[in-house]
Amino acid sequence: MNKQFDPALCRVRLATEQDTDDLIAIARGIWGGSDYLPRMLAMWLSEPYFFVCEYQGKVIACIKLSLFPDHVLWFEGLRVHKAYQGKGVGTLLNREMIRFAAGLKEKDPQLSFEFCTYYQNVESLHVTQKLGFKKVHGFYVIDRHGLKRQSEPKIITDYDMSIFSQYPAYIPCGWQTFHNSPAALSFIKKRAVVFETSQARYLAGGITERCITLLSPPPTDLLSELPYFQYFYAPLKHYGMIVPTHYRRYLPKLKAAGFKFWDKETKPVENMVVLKVGS
Ligand SMILES: CC(C)(COP(=O)(O)OP(=O)(O)OC[C@H]1O[C@@H](n2cnc3c(N)ncnc32)[C@H](O)[C@@H]1OP(=O)(O)O)[C@@H](O)C(=O)NCCC(=O)NCCS
Repeated sequence: MNKQFDPALCRVRLATEQDTDDLIAIARGIWGGSDYLPRMLAMWLSEPYFFVCEYQGKVIACIKLSLFPDHVLWFEGLRVHKAYQGKGVGTLLNREMIRFAAGLKEKDPQLSFEFCTYYQNVESLHVTQKLGFKKVHGFYVIDRHGLKRQSEPKIITDYDMSIFSQYPAYIPCGWQTFHNSPAALSFIKKRAVVFETSQARYLAGGITERCITLLSPPPTDLLSELPYFQYFYAPLKHYGMIVPTHYRRYLPKLKAAGFKFWDKETKPVENMVVLKVGS
């Protein structure tokens, strides 16, 4: 089928609703079928800059660019159909996006291109680093088995940017990050919920994958916070927590409460990596 794959026949164009079935087929082969792409399709198809790569009448790859606050063009949703991986399609699509993004940068010279990935996503890191992306930031993401019990926390809506004082550069909202700038507030409010227990405040955020973000050091009785975290997930569902690296000293405490690095790392590692091209 794709034995004599010819990249010259790849056509990069904007996605349309007619591409839905092909995009769902791509997602089926990614991360054991747990890809969040299908959940994002309706939104991404209604927004600007959702691109696909078509090959012989079939969509074999996609990527989404989004304008984020503080002059950021966010790259996400890069996917190549399993049968076409390792043939240069990811590189081709990214290169095409850099060219397209350069056109946007002509209109906004402050624009930087950014994205976030897992530190062991070697293909994604390789493809993007060869096009000029460099690591600018990192967080710890740790995971926990879900509990059955859920408790409803108090939801806070009247917060301002001061609540993110622990994140002076990048604010993680799931696997998207925003520059800590006043313009980020409305973006975060659309994508996250700030909640409070008797001990602390947290953020449950992210439209691709929801994570709990610590807004202050983990409190003394962390175990009693767990049912409040679970409120944002189905009972027993696994979830991730994002921890700033200057909280490294709290990792043993988080470990004691059941949070682990995904790949069972023995030493703390910045496994959520933010990369950037531009000033
Ligand atoms: C990441 C992804 C988009 C890459 O697409 P692709 O079409 O396979 O990428 P390419 O063929 O253009 O390039 C793959 C590169 O990875 C390199 N690579 C493969 N294994 C590697 C490893 N273990 N270490 C370092 N580089 C590696 C290849 O050598 C190749 O680079 P080269 O062309 O310079 O030799 C694709 O693997 C994919 O869809 N993955 C699942 C979804 C995903 O992780 N998306 C990114 C989320 S941020």
